Amino acid sequence: MKRMVSGVQPTGTLHLGGYLGAFRQWAAVQHQADAYFFVADLHALTVDGDPERLRRATLEVATQLMAIGLDPAACTLFVQSQVPEHTQLAWLLECTATTGELGRMTQFKDKSGGQESVKVGLFTYPVLMAADVLLYDADLVPVGDDQRQHLELTRDLAGRFNHRYGDTFRVPEAYVPPVAARVMDLQHPERKMSKSGASPQGTIELLDEPKVIERKVARAVTDAETEVRYDRAAKPGVSNLLELLGAATGRPPADLSPSYSRYGDLKKDVAAAVVEMLRPVRERHAELSADPSQVWTALQAGSEAARTVASMTLDRASSAIGLVGGTTGTGSRSVDSTFA
Ligand code: TYM
Repeated sequence: MKRMVSGVQPTGTLHLGGYLGAFRQWAAVQHQADAYFFVADLHALTVDGDPERLRRATLEVATQLMAIGLDPAACTLFVQSQVPEHTQLAWLLECTATTGELGRMTQFKDKSGGQESVKVGLFTYPVLMAADVLLYDADLVPVGDDQRQHLELTRDLAGRFNHRYGDTFRVPEAYVPPVAARVMDLQHPERKMSKSGASPQGTIELLDEPKVIERKVARAVTDAETEVRYDRAAKPGVSNLLELLGAATGRPPADLSPSYSRYGDLKKDVAAAVVEMLRPVRERHAELSADPSQVWTALQAGSEAARTVASMTLDRASSAIGLVGGTTGTGSRSVDSTFA
């Protein structure tokens, strides 16, 4: 059985981009894989935020993931900060990564926006992400297109560590869906849909009411032409709508365009398909919100299960790099042999 791992930051409510790019795949693979999914609350600390808001968002994001279909009986669902091995392994990997390669991360460049001084955590963020993945010996990491570069770095760090200290980590691969791997903002189709809150009208949230979804899609920016054609470079707005329809109906976006001669008809079908796709999520969310204790219970059990796997990998890595001791015994065995 393949091992899969992936995470999501609790920096706001979940949106359609993350759903199509990642979470929908998570729900689909959980029954065929040994799957670990987590709320990346430590990653959210790289930007300023309110502590109480972060706590609430962490539980809310977990609730939304369960509403999407993640079943704690089929996968391990947990909160990153409840598994301290993530930050412990991150340090070993920080001593493997270089400032040069971290400085080349496009997300870091975007988020630091040319400021001279930014949080160190924003810079080392991809190393923590590498630890998140390597701790679970993942074969595949289901993510949207924007995480590809981080996954490449993860592979580089795993390979370098293995080369220097002996075979320790499994080298993972990104699993990016063929359609809707980069859902664009409806108002600014040249940039990706994101939860930063900068473009509420361009972002479809998973729990948006049908009327809200219809309005946002109806007002989506297209272009001055009238031809419905799939061409991401020349027609980003229209192509994004075709991708949404393709992802919701399971058909290639380019095959859909001949059925439409007007943008208005396309928008109507996109809105209807998205509303139907998200209806069960909204309904299940209402049920789960009525009893939040089941989410918390699932997260606690998930964190314990995750720690069992994570502590073994950390121990292996600690031992390989020359640290004495360990949590599961491998480290201490290496001490015995050193002093024998
Ligand atoms: P995050 O929280 O920004 O997004 C969660 C997942 O959703 C995908 N995604 C999108 N896919 C398509 N179109 C979009 N507009 C869109 N926006 C978001 C992301 O690619 C991601 O898969 N660094 C990660 C969280 C993380 C992680 C990890 C992921 C932390 N540790 C380890 C995988 C493995 C992030 O910020 O994702």
